[in-house]
Amino acid sequence: MLEKIKEIKAAIDAFVIDSPAKLEEFRISYLAKKGVITDLMTGLKDVVQEERKSIGLALNDLKTKAWEKFEQQQSGLGESTVETDAPDMNLPVQVFPLGSRHPLSIVRQEIIEIFEQMGFAMSDGPEIEDDWHNFSALNFPQNHPARDMQDTFFISKNPDVLLRTHTSTVQVRLMEKQKPPIRAIMPGRVYRNEAISARAHCLFHQIEGLYIDRNVGFKDLKQTLYHFVKEMFGKDQKIRFRPSFFPFTEPSAEIDISCLICNGAGCNICKHTGWVEIGGSGMVDPNVLTANNIDPEEFTGFAFGMGIERITMLRYGIKDLRLFTENDVRFVSQFSGLS
Ligand code: PHE
Repeated sequence: MLEKIKEIKAAIDAFVIDSPAKLEEFRISYLAKKGVITDLMTGLKDVVQEERKSIGLALNDLKTKAWEKFEQQQSGLGESTVETDAPDMNLPVQVFPLGSRHPLSIVRQEIIEIFEQMGFAMSDGPEIEDDWHNFSALNFPQNHPARDMQDTFFISKNPDVLLRTHTSTVQVRLMEKQKPPIRAIMPGRVYRNEAISARAHCLFHQIEGLYIDRNVGFKDLKQTLYHFVKEMFGKDQKIRFRPSFFPFTEPSAEIDISCLICNGAGCNICKHTGWVEIGGSGMVDPNVLTANNIDPEEFTGFAFGMGIERITMLRYGIKDLRLFTENDVRFVSQFSGLS
Protein backbone atom coordinates (compact mmCIF):
# COMPACT_ATOMS: atom_id res chain seq x y z
CA MET A 1 0.00 0.00 0.00
CA LEU A 2 2.89 2.35 0.72
CA GLU A 3 4.02 1.69 -2.85
CA LYS A 4 0.61 2.77 -4.12
CA ILE A 5 0.71 5.98 -2.04
CA LYS A 6 4.11 6.84 -3.51
CA GLU A 7 2.81 6.34 -7.03
CA ILE A 8 -0.19 8.59 -6.43
CA LYS A 9 2.06 11.23 -4.88
CA ALA A 10 4.23 11.23 -8.01
CA ALA A 11 1.12 11.46 -10.19
CA ILE A 12 -0.16 14.42 -8.18
CA ASP A 13 3.20 16.18 -8.53
CA ALA A 14 3.25 15.57 -12.27
CA PHE A 15 -0.36 16.64 -12.85
CA VAL A 16 -0.32 19.85 -14.86
CA ILE A 17 -3.19 22.19 -14.06
CA ASP A 18 -3.36 24.93 -16.71
CA SER A 19 -7.07 25.49 -17.10
CA PRO A 20 -10.22 25.46 -14.99
CA ALA A 21 -11.15 22.16 -16.68
CA LYS A 22 -7.88 20.53 -15.58
CA LEU A 23 -8.42 21.83 -12.06
CA GLU A 24 -11.82 20.17 -11.95
CA GLU A 25 -10.33 16.94 -13.33
CA PHE A 26 -7.72 17.02 -10.53
CA ARG A 27 -10.39 17.57 -7.91
CA ILE A 28 -12.52 14.66 -9.14
CA SER A 29 -9.52 12.27 -9.40
CA TYR A 30 -7.97 12.97 -6.02
CA LEU A 31 -10.22 14.92 -3.69
CA ALA A 32 -13.81 13.97 -4.42
CA LYS A 33 -15.73 11.44 -2.37
CA LYS A 34 -15.12 8.86 -5.04
CA GLY A 35 -11.49 9.89 -5.67
CA VAL A 36 -8.45 7.67 -5.17
CA ILE A 37 -7.47 9.08 -1.79
CA THR A 38 -10.90 8.44 -0.24
CA ASP A 39 -10.71 4.93 -1.72
CA LEU A 40 -7.43 4.30 0.03
CA MET A 41 -8.76 5.76 3.30
CA THR A 42 -11.65 3.32 3.15
CA GLY A 43 -9.20 0.46 2.54
CA LEU A 44 -7.23 1.40 5.67
CA LYS A 45 -9.45 -0.76 7.87
CA ASP A 46 -8.23 -3.89 6.01
CA VAL A 47 -4.59 -3.11 6.66
CA VAL A 48 -2.87 -5.16 9.35
CA GLN A 49 -2.68 -3.53 12.74
CA GLU A 50 1.14 -2.97 12.76
CA GLU A 51 1.16 -1.06 9.45
CA ARG A 52 -2.05 0.89 9.94
CA LYS A 53 -0.47 3.81 11.78
CA SER A 54 2.34 4.50 9.30
CA ILE A 55 0.05 4.04 6.31
CA GLY A 56 -2.52 6.30 7.94
CA LEU A 57 0.12 9.03 8.39
CA ALA A 58 1.31 8.66 4.79
CA LEU A 59 -2.28 8.89 3.54
CA ASN A 60 -2.95 12.03 5.57
CA ASP A 61 0.19 13.57 4.18
CA LEU A 62 -0.92 12.72 0.66
CA LYS A 63 -4.32 14.26 1.22
CA THR A 64 -2.82 17.51 2.57
CA LYS A 65 -0.45 17.72 -0.44
CA ALA A 66 -3.32 17.22 -2.86
CA TRP A 67 -5.42 19.93 -1.19
CA GLU A 68 -2.47 22.32 -1.09
CA LYS A 69 -1.86 21.89 -4.79
CA PHE A 70 -5.55 22.30 -5.54
CA GLU A 71 -5.92 25.52 -3.53
CA GLN A 72 -2.75 27.04 -4.87
CA GLN A 73 -3.76 26.41 -8.49
CA GLN A 74 -7.30 27.53 -7.87
CA SER A 75 -6.26 30.99 -6.71
CA GLY A 76 -3.71 31.30 -9.53
CA LEU A 77 -6.24 30.36 -12.19
CA GLY A 78 -8.85 32.57 -10.57
CA GLU A 79 -6.80 35.71 -11.27
CA SER A 80 -5.98 34.82 -14.83
CA THR A 81 -9.59 34.06 -15.74
CA VAL A 82 -10.66 37.52 -14.61
CA GLU A 83 -7.86 39.15 -16.55
CA THR A 84 -8.59 37.43 -19.81
CA ASP A 85 -12.33 36.95 -19.90
CA ALA A 86 -14.17 39.62 -18.03
CA PRO A 87 -13.75 43.28 -17.04
CA ASP A 88 -12.61 43.73 -13.46
CA MET A 89 -15.30 45.72 -11.71
CA ASN A 90 -13.01 46.37 -8.76
CA LEU A 91 -10.48 48.48 -10.66
CA PRO A 92 -10.45 52.14 -9.58
CA VAL A 93 -12.02 54.52 -12.10
CA GLN A 94 -9.67 56.63 -14.17
CA VAL A 95 -11.09 60.14 -14.17
CA PHE A 96 -10.84 61.65 -17.65
CA PRO A 97 -9.56 65.22 -17.23
CA LEU A 98 -11.91 67.71 -18.89
CA GLY A 99 -10.45 70.77 -20.60
CA SER A 100 -11.78 74.28 -20.06
CA ARG A 101 -12.67 77.03 -22.47
CA HIS A 102 -10.22 79.90 -22.75
CA PRO A 103 -11.45 82.98 -20.86
CA LEU A 104 -11.31 85.01 -24.09
CA SER A 105 -13.62 82.51 -25.79
CA ILE A 106 -16.02 82.61 -22.85
CA VAL A 107 -16.24 86.41 -22.86
CA ARG A 108 -16.37 86.61 -26.67
CA GLN A 109 -19.39 84.30 -26.59
CA GLU A 110 -21.10 86.38 -23.90
CA ILE A 111 -20.60 89.57 -25.92
CA ILE A 112 -21.96 87.91 -29.06
CA GLU A 113 -25.06 86.72 -27.23
CA ILE A 114 -25.85 90.20 -25.89
CA PHE A 115 -25.65 91.74 -29.36
CA GLU A 116 -27.51 88.86 -30.99
CA GLN A 117 -30.41 89.57 -28.63
CA MET A 118 -30.45 93.10 -30.04
CA GLY A 119 -30.69 91.72 -33.59
CA PHE A 120 -27.05 91.88 -34.67
CA ALA A 121 -25.86 89.15 -37.06
CA MET A 122 -22.39 87.59 -37.03
CA SER A 123 -19.86 88.34 -39.74
CA ASP A 124 -16.14 87.70 -40.28
CA GLY A 125 -13.26 88.30 -42.66
CA PRO A 126 -9.60 87.45 -43.31
CA GLU A 127 -6.71 88.35 -40.97
CA ILE A 128 -4.36 89.04 -43.89
CA GLU A 129 -5.62 92.17 -45.60
CA ASP A 130 -4.78 94.81 -48.19
CA ASP A 131 -4.41 98.55 -47.83
CA TRP A 132 -7.91 99.22 -49.18
CA HIS A 133 -9.81 97.22 -46.54
CA ASN A 134 -7.61 98.19 -43.59
CA PHE A 135 -7.07 101.88 -44.43
CA SER A 136 -8.20 103.52 -47.67
CA ALA A 137 -11.87 102.43 -47.69
CA LEU A 138 -12.02 103.62 -44.07
CA ASN A 139 -11.04 107.16 -44.97
CA PHE A 140 -7.37 106.93 -43.94
CA PRO A 141 -5.79 109.28 -46.56
CA GLN A 142 -2.44 108.21 -48.08
CA ASN A 143 0.47 109.52 -45.98
CA HIS A 144 -1.94 110.81 -43.37
CA PRO A 145 -0.62 110.67 -39.79
CA ALA A 146 -3.74 108.69 -38.83
CA ARG A 147 -2.03 105.65 -40.32
CA ASP A 148 0.61 105.92 -37.64
CA MET A 149 -2.05 105.46 -34.95
CA GLN A 150 -1.86 101.78 -35.69
CA ASP A 151 1.62 100.31 -36.00
CA THR A 152 1.19 97.83 -38.75
CA PHE A 153 2.87 94.51 -39.55
CA PHE A 154 3.42 94.57 -43.30
CA ILE A 155 3.84 91.29 -45.16
CA SER A 156 4.75 93.15 -48.36
CA LYS A 157 4.86 96.74 -49.60
CA ASN A 158 3.61 97.78 -53.05
CA PRO A 159 1.14 96.25 -53.23
CA ASP A 160 0.51 96.51 -49.51
CA VAL A 161 -0.31 93.21 -47.84
CA LEU A 162 -0.63 93.39 -44.06
CA LEU A 163 -2.00 91.80 -40.92
CA ARG A 164 -5.21 93.67 -40.14
CA THR A 165 -4.81 96.20 -37.35
CA HIS A 166 -8.54 96.29 -36.52
CA THR A 167 -11.73 94.42 -37.32
CA SER A 168 -13.07 97.51 -39.13
CA THR A 169 -11.86 95.71 -42.27
CA VAL A 170 -14.90 93.46 -41.94
CA GLN A 171 -17.18 96.54 -42.04
CA VAL A 172 -15.81 97.27 -45.49
CA ARG A 173 -16.20 93.67 -46.64
CA LEU A 174 -19.78 93.64 -45.41
CA MET A 175 -20.69 96.92 -47.13
CA GLU A 176 -19.22 95.52 -50.36
CA LYS A 177 -21.56 92.58 -50.42
CA GLN A 178 -24.66 93.79 -48.58
CA LYS A 179 -26.89 96.80 -49.00
CA PRO A 180 -28.41 98.52 -45.91
CA PRO A 181 -30.00 97.81 -43.57
CA ILE A 182 -26.84 96.29 -42.10
CA ARG A 183 -26.69 95.26 -38.46
CA ALA A 184 -23.74 93.02 -37.67
CA ILE A 185 -20.98 92.27 -35.21
CA MET A 186 -17.54 91.05 -36.22
CA PRO A 187 -15.28 89.40 -33.67
CA GLY A 188 -11.71 88.56 -34.63
CA ARG A 189 -7.99 88.62 -34.04
CA VAL A 190 -5.99 91.75 -34.89
CA TYR A 191 -2.28 92.59 -34.94
CA ARG A 192 -0.22 95.64 -34.06
CA ASN A 193 3.51 96.15 -33.92
CA GLU A 194 3.67 96.95 -30.22
CA ALA A 195 6.01 95.95 -27.41
CA ILE A 196 4.44 93.24 -25.25
CA SER A 197 3.60 94.37 -21.71
CA ALA A 198 0.93 93.86 -19.02
CA ARG A 199 -1.33 96.25 -20.95
CA ALA A 200 -0.44 95.73 -24.63
CA HIS A 201 0.25 92.86 -26.98
CA CYS A 202 1.15 92.50 -30.64
CA LEU A 203 -1.92 90.32 -31.16
CA PHE A 204 -5.28 90.71 -29.51
CA HIS A 205 -9.00 90.41 -30.20
CA GLN A 206 -11.63 92.95 -31.05
CA ILE A 207 -15.32 92.85 -31.61
CA GLU A 208 -16.69 95.42 -33.96
CA GLY A 209 -20.28 96.42 -34.59
CA LEU A 210 -21.89 98.18 -37.55
CA TYR A 211 -25.43 99.43 -37.92
CA ILE A 212 -26.49 101.21 -41.09
CA ASP A 213 -30.06 102.13 -41.93
CA ARG A 214 -32.25 105.16 -42.50
CA ASN A 215 -32.37 107.62 -39.56
CA VAL A 216 -29.73 105.97 -37.38
CA GLY A 217 -28.49 108.59 -34.91
CA PHE A 218 -25.90 109.01 -32.16
CA LYS A 219 -28.66 108.31 -29.59
CA ASP A 220 -28.96 104.79 -31.07
CA LEU A 221 -25.22 104.25 -30.66
CA LYS A 222 -25.34 105.41 -27.05
CA GLN A 223 -28.38 103.35 -26.16
CA THR A 224 -26.93 100.20 -27.74
CA LEU A 225 -23.67 100.52 -25.82
CA TYR A 226 -25.41 101.48 -22.55
CA HIS A 227 -27.46 98.33 -22.85
CA PHE A 228 -24.40 96.24 -23.64
CA VAL A 229 -22.43 97.51 -20.62
CA LYS A 230 -25.33 96.94 -18.21
CA GLU A 231 -25.84 93.41 -19.54
CA MET A 232 -22.16 92.59 -19.44
CA PHE A 233 -21.09 94.17 -16.15
CA GLY A 234 -24.32 94.71 -14.22
CA LYS A 235 -26.91 97.49 -14.06
CA ASP A 236 -24.90 99.68 -11.68
CA GLN A 237 -21.91 99.92 -13.99
CA LYS A 238 -20.99 103.50 -14.93
CA ILE A 239 -20.27 104.38 -18.56
CA ARG A 240 -19.08 107.57 -20.23
CA PHE A 241 -18.40 108.71 -23.79
CA ARG A 242 -15.28 110.78 -24.37
CA PRO A 243 -14.83 112.79 -27.61
CA SER A 244 -12.16 111.25 -29.78
CA PHE A 245 -10.98 110.87 -33.35
CA PHE A 246 -11.11 108.03 -35.84
CA PRO A 247 -10.74 108.61 -39.60
CA PHE A 248 -13.80 106.47 -40.32
CA THR A 249 -16.28 108.00 -37.85
CA GLU A 250 -17.55 111.54 -37.28
CA PRO A 251 -18.28 112.41 -34.54
CA SER A 252 -16.22 109.84 -32.65
CA ALA A 253 -16.17 108.84 -29.01
CA GLU A 254 -14.16 106.58 -26.82
CA ILE A 255 -16.20 104.34 -24.52
CA ASP A 256 -15.05 104.27 -20.87
CA ILE A 257 -16.47 102.30 -17.98
CA SER A 258 -15.59 102.69 -14.30
CA CYS A 259 -12.66 100.44 -13.40
CA LEU A 260 -13.84 97.12 -12.01
CA ILE A 261 -10.38 96.18 -10.75
CA CYS A 262 -10.19 99.02 -8.19
CA ASN A 263 -13.84 100.16 -8.19
CA GLY A 264 -12.79 103.59 -9.33
CA ALA A 265 -10.17 104.12 -6.62
CA GLY A 266 -7.25 104.08 -9.08
CA CYS A 267 -4.87 101.27 -10.05
CA ASN A 268 -2.30 100.43 -12.72
CA ILE A 269 -4.98 99.09 -15.09
CA CYS A 270 -6.93 102.38 -15.14
CA LYS A 271 -3.74 104.46 -14.92
CA HIS A 272 -5.09 105.78 -11.60
CA THR A 273 -8.04 107.58 -13.22
CA GLY A 274 -10.81 105.21 -12.07
CA TRP A 275 -11.95 104.80 -15.71
CA VAL A 276 -10.94 102.28 -18.34
CA GLU A 277 -11.43 102.52 -22.04
CA ILE A 278 -13.13 99.50 -23.56
CA GLY A 279 -13.31 100.68 -27.16
CA GLY A 280 -13.98 103.32 -29.76
CA SER A 281 -17.18 104.32 -31.51
CA GLY A 282 -18.82 106.92 -33.67
CA MET A 283 -21.14 107.75 -36.56
CA VAL A 284 -19.87 106.25 -39.81
CA ASP A 285 -18.13 109.03 -41.76
CA PRO A 286 -20.03 109.93 -44.98
CA ASN A 287 -16.76 109.43 -46.90
CA VAL A 288 -16.72 105.77 -45.82
CA LEU A 289 -20.30 105.26 -46.98
CA THR A 290 -19.50 106.88 -50.34
CA ALA A 291 -16.31 104.81 -50.78
CA ASN A 292 -18.48 101.72 -50.28
CA ASN A 293 -21.24 102.81 -52.68
CA ILE A 294 -23.80 103.69 -50.03
CA ASP A 295 -25.56 107.03 -50.41
CA PRO A 296 -24.88 109.11 -47.25
CA GLU A 297 -27.92 111.29 -48.04
CA GLU A 298 -30.16 108.27 -47.64
CA PHE A 299 -28.37 106.19 -45.02
CA THR A 300 -26.55 106.84 -41.77
CA GLY A 301 -24.91 104.45 -39.38
CA PHE A 302 -22.85 103.92 -36.29
CA ALA A 303 -19.88 101.68 -35.60
CA PHE A 304 -18.00 100.60 -32.53
CA GLY A 305 -15.01 98.42 -31.78
CA MET A 306 -14.04 96.93 -28.42
CA GLY A 307 -11.07 94.96 -27.09
CA ILE A 308 -12.06 91.48 -25.90
CA GLU A 309 -8.91 91.17 -23.74
CA ARG A 310 -9.73 94.39 -21.92
CA ILE A 311 -13.31 93.31 -21.22
CA THR A 312 -12.12 89.88 -20.02
CA MET A 313 -9.56 91.47 -17.68
CA LEU A 314 -12.24 93.65 -16.14
CA ARG A 315 -14.70 90.78 -15.93
CA TYR A 316 -12.35 88.44 -14.06
CA GLY A 317 -9.95 90.87 -12.38
CA ILE A 318 -6.98 89.78 -14.50
CA LYS A 319 -4.12 92.26 -14.19
CA ASP A 320 -1.71 91.06 -16.88
CA LEU A 321 -2.61 90.65 -20.55
CA ARG A 322 0.28 88.24 -21.11
CA LEU A 323 -1.51 85.53 -19.13
CA PHE A 324 -3.87 85.01 -22.06
CA THR A 325 -1.16 83.73 -24.36
CA GLU A 326 1.20 81.93 -21.98
CA ASN A 327 -0.90 78.76 -21.83
CA ASP A 328 -0.23 78.23 -18.15
CA VAL A 329 -2.60 75.44 -17.06
CA ARG A 330 -2.81 76.93 -13.56
CA PHE A 331 -4.36 80.01 -15.14
CA VAL A 332 -6.64 78.52 -17.79
CA SER A 333 -7.93 75.68 -15.59
CA GLN A 334 -9.51 78.28 -13.28
CA PHE A 335 -12.14 78.83 -15.97
CA SER A 336 -13.27 75.21 -16.21
CA GLY A 337 -16.99 74.72 -15.94
CA LEU A 338 -17.72 78.18 -17.37
CA SER A 339 -19.21 78.47 -20.80
N1 PHE B 1 -11.19 100.36 -35.25
C1 PHE B 1 -11.00 101.15 -34.09
C2 PHE B 1 -9.71 100.71 -33.37
O1 PHE B 1 -9.28 99.62 -33.60
C3 PHE B 1 -12.14 101.04 -33.14
C4 PHE B 1 -13.37 101.64 -33.69
C5 PHE B 1 -14.26 100.85 -34.40
C6 PHE B 1 -13.66 102.98 -33.53
C7 PHE B 1 -15.42 101.41 -34.92
C8 PHE B 1 -14.81 103.52 -34.02
C9 PHE B 1 -15.68 102.74 -34.71
O2 PHE B 1 -9.16 101.43 -32.59
